[in-house]
Amino acid sequence: MFMGFGGDIMLKDNVLKALNLQVNREFYSSYAYFSMALYFKDKGLKGLEKLMKKQAQEEIEHASGLVDYIYNRNSQVSLETVEAPHFSFSSAFEVFETALEHEKNITKSLSLALETAEVQRDYMTQSFLQGYIDEQVEEESFFSSFIKKCALIKEDQLSLIVFDNMLTE
Ligand SMILES: [Fe+2]
Ligand SMILES: [Fe+2]
Repeated sequence: MFMGFGGDIMLKDNVLKALNLQVNREFYSSYAYFSMALYFKDKGLKGLEKLMKKQAQEEIEHASGLVDYIYNRNSQVSLETVEAPHFSFSSAFEVFETALEHEKNITKSLSLALETAEVQRDYMTQSFLQGYIDEQVEEESFFSSFIKKCALIKEDQLSLIVFDNMLTE
């Protein structure tokens, strides 16, 4: 029998704390993207509204995945207050710039959690978080591509409407 190898399945306190914090950040991401969907809704841009609502939904799934992992490690999730997003945008370009900035912060936050797991030699959590970090490559590049498209559209409102229509298809 291997004693002291890997140890308890329960998460160490600081790893659990980092994962719980990440749960909160994923819920905040969802809330933030939902608020961006509302900006587009207000403008009557249904395609972009749908796109950001889908992003909001994906963030709930990220939070849910973390919650499942915490439970699988025989540990308790603590759901904290989710901050309200306070953004004001003047263009679709700004929305996507803010979204990209936010994803970069999420990548940083996941990296810090991974470092905590590394210090604790918690290889299960390291592997789990690595999956989330890998996904961030796509998350960041998704919003970068929209920044580029919106930069091309610039102030041309008609192009924005045409672009939005393409997204509803
Ligand atoms: Fe996420
Ligand atoms: Fe994301």
